[in-house]
Amino acid sequence: MSPFGCWGLPAALLALFCCPGSGEVFEVHTYPEQLAVKPGESQFINCSTSCSRPEAGGLETILAKTLMTSGAQWKEYMVSNISQDTIIYCYFTCFGEQRLTSLNVSVFYPPTQVLLKLQPTWVAVGRPFTIKCHVPAVKPLESLTLMLLRGQEVLHNQTFWGTADGTQGATATHNSTAHREDGLHNFSCQAILDLRSLGGNIIHRVSEPQMLKVYEPRPDNQMVVIISVVSVLLFLFVTSILLCFVLGQHWRQRRMGTYGVQGA
Ligand SMILES: *[C@@H]1O[C@H](CO)[C@@H](O)[C@H](O)[C@H]1NC(C)=O
Ligand SMILES: *[C@@H]1O[C@H](CO)[C@@H](O)[C@H](O)[C@H]1NC(C)=O
Ligand SMILES: *[C@@H]1O[C@H](CO)[C@@H](O)[C@H](O)[C@H]1NC(C)=O
Ligand SMILES: *[C@@H]1O[C@H](CO)[C@@H](O)[C@H](O)[C@H]1NC(C)=O
Ligand SMILES: *[C@@H]1O[C@H](CO)[C@@H](O)[C@H](O)[C@H]1NC(C)=O
Ligand SMILES: *[C@@H]1O[C@H](CO)[C@@H](O)[C@H](O)[C@H]1NC(C)=O
Repeated sequence: MSPFGCWGLPAALLALFCCPGSGEVFEVHTYPEQLAVKPGESQFINCSTSCSRPEAGGLETILAKTLMTSGAQWKEYMVSNISQDTIIYCYFTCFGEQRLTSLNVSVFYPPTQVLLKLQPTWVAVGRPFTIKCHVPAVKPLESLTLMLLRGQEVLHNQTFWGTADGTQGATATHNSTAHREDGLHNFSCQAILDLRSLGGNIIHRVSEPQMLKVYEPRPDNQMVVIISVVSVLLFLFVTSILLCFVLGQHWRQRRMGTYGVQGA
């Protein structure tokens, strides 16, 4: 026995013929489905339905909206002056039933400045130095990666967690030890704002290249003084011994000479 029993088919037919269209499954869509915009931007949004003859429909939003064009199954609006994250609803009523879909709008602040700093800029081989990259006023932080590079080589990738709703700066720091070849490459910092999951693109921005001056460590001054003093003392010691020896020889010769004269 089917679950509808013998009444299943007649009931379905009744529903179909008695109230045409009722229970019609219809969908509501927006184009785009997600939106990432810069603050203050305006955007076209097309709100449409699969219902063949909708009774009503439109956008529900706190933002300023203007109906631009419309068809039997769609309405296109311009939404202007988007300044913060918001949700826009698109709805249609079909045979007394209302359906809606939501569109997430994310406001982003692109990385306009990428500031790289090497500290110190002059460093001896084997000594530590710090690479610091700062990007002011960027949003959303969850979409940001800061890549610290030496030439083409990635030294450090830093990702972030968003906190407050406001725009914030982001900083990546990497400590390193100077090698001779560090002086041969440019250091740089690349900011990547990946907005693909929010309906946007990937935005790249690179800092000005920076060079590190690397020098060979010199022996320190105290050591130089000690070595000089020791050398001088050694020289004086050796000289005095030689002098003693030479004088001693000379003196003996003179004494022998005197005896020789006496003996003769
Ligand atoms: C809005 O979307 C509907 C359904 O996808 C489409 O038929 C219509 O051409 C679109 N309108 C505009 C102005 O793009
Ligand atoms: C745009 O939005 C901001 C903040 O919501 C508001 O201060 C400003 O007056 C608006 N500008 C226009 C032209 O509507
Ligand atoms: C829209 O945002 C809400 C909450 O902010 C989230 O739960 C939902 O998954 C988002 N929708 C899409 C399509 O990203
Ligand atoms: C750093 O991030 C970039 C972009 O997200 C990726 O292509 C790269 O492989 C990452 N490198 C490292 C060393 O994690
Ligand atoms: C780098 O070194 C400085 C001091 O030399 C220290 O304060 C800082 O925490 C270090 N940063 C990292 C990321 O290791
Ligand atoms: C480093 O960057 C400067 C300035 O852009 C450029 O003139 C120089 O050729 C670069 N050096 C290397 C080794 O890439």
